[in-house]
Amino acid sequence: MTVRILGIESTCDETGVAVVDNGTDVVVNLLASSVHLQKKFGGIVPEVAAREQVRVITPLLKELMRSVEFESLDAIAVSIGPGLVGSLLIGVETAKTIALFLNKPLISVNHLTAHIFANFLDNNQKVEFPILGLIISGGHTDLILVNSPTSIKLLGSTLDDSVGEAFDKIARFMRLPYPGGPEVDKLARKSKGDYDFRFTRPYLQGSLDFSFSGLKTHVVNFLDKQKSLSQNAKFDVCLELERTIADVIVVKLKLALSKYKVKTIAIGGGVAANSFIREQLKNNFFDEYKVLLPAKENCVDNGAMIAACAFLVRNYVDPLKTQALPGLHFQKN
Ligand code: KG4
Ligand code: ZN
Repeated sequence: MTVRILGIESTCDETGVAVVDNGTDVVVNLLASSVHLQKKFGGIVPEVAAREQVRVITPLLKELMRSVEFESLDAIAVSIGPGLVGSLLIGVETAKTIALFLNKPLISVNHLTAHIFANFLDNNQKVEFPILGLIISGGHTDLILVNSPTSIKLLGSTLDDSVGEAFDKIARFMRLPYPGGPEVDKLARKSKGDYDFRFTRPYLQGSLDFSFSGLKTHVVNFLDKQKSLSQNAKFDVCLELERTIADVIVVKLKLALSKYKVKTIAIGGGVAANSFIREQLKNNFFDEYKVLLPAKENCVDNGAMIAACAFLVRNYVDPLKTQALPGLHFQKN
């Protein structure tokens, strides 16, 4: 029997609506972003994001209704956080209204968990727990042990900036457009890799936590000291930034794997779209582990990952009781 779920995502600057069958088969996946409006601010202005979401959510749902009968839905899922409150309200209230109107269950989903379960979209892989999960996004850098969709242990987290923030803030200093991560990815691919400088890797020896604000200062100081930066040197800085971040990620994953017995590693979040990081994860872990990386378009926030997550979560929670979910920010103990 097919379980068809409508997933709604509105935690940050994206508005996503999608219908997914059985947690894997994407029937329709629509996304609107306010990134074009945020570019001139060089970062996300919550009010700009929320106002745009008010504008786009109904047209998106109308468009979705062209391919799916709402009566065919078995449940409505919505991301309830973490996120910006103004943005969250729009998705949550819309989902509640649809669920109420159709008299269908409402399943609330943790946005971070959904980033990990985006890996099960468009692939019919069996979900085997425990999973070592790593969320690398604009707002979070969390290393987690996923024992079930609702039993998640936080192993390590950033003490300051997230990986995405490191990319975006350094890119901004280099006068690259917002969001900086994809720009760095593009420019780094043009580097020949034969430069003679090295950024310090913030390993925090022995700890599963991360820290990226020192790296940001290091790169900014490095750039300040250069009298002028040739185009090739810019490419090199981008590549060295990626190499530094990828080295940290690989070391942290190896440390976690030495402590916890898992067969599957699942990565998620916008930064998981980075080509160099993806390559390094493949090189280091593919031989020994099942490494799950979402398709690039599923790394960023979207409605399909919310529906995929809800499909797995639905066996563990009472629909309509959001308190059945664990805290929105993962807890260490
Ligand atoms: O998961 P996401 O869409 O939003 C949050 O939940 O935060 O992640 C956005 C972040 C931004 O910091 C963006 O610069 C980064 O993901 N990002 C990338 C790439 N694509 C997006 N960073 C590095 N390389 C990329 N290709
Ligand atoms: Zn996200």
